[in-house]
Amino acid sequence: MPISSDLLSGKVVVVTGGAGLLGRTFISAIVGAGGTGVIADINEETGLKTRDTLKRELNSDTIDFVKLDITSKDSINQTIGLLAER
Ligand SMILES: NC(=O)c1ccc[n+]([C@@H]2O[C@H](COP(=O)([O-])OP(=O)(O)OC[C@H]3O[C@@H](n4cnc5c(N)ncnc54)[C@H](O)[C@@H]3O)[C@@H](O)[C@H]2O)c1
Repeated sequence: MPISSDLLSGKVVVVTGGAGLLGRTFISAIVGAGGTGVIADINEETGLKTRDTLKRELNSDTIDFVKLDITSKDSINQTIGLLAER
């Protein structure tokens, strides 16, 4: 069944490991469904490059990046605070 292009309209979806192979695919699907995709990844350089590449390829402004270490409670709390501010 095709995914509606407004299924995730108004929603922000955070993808941990978002700069990786699967993460990029998830971000593309989220944007395709009308949502905002946040690449949350420990690798800032790759994360920022991935954000810029996907923005260009998908012609979308609804892709963001945050640096996150999913193994660290402090990093998770920091990320939540940062996203709440944006
Ligand atoms: N690609 C596949 O076909 C496939 C199939 C089955 C399972 N998996 C599993 O799914 C997971 C993701 O696969 P992938 O192919 O996207 O891997 P990938 O290596 O391409 O991406 C993993 C991403 O996670 C990030 N990362 C690593 N440690 C992190 C941390 N502590 N906090 C935040 N980000 C972190 C890396 O920087 C990287 O961008 C892996 O565990 C893999 O074994 C992948």
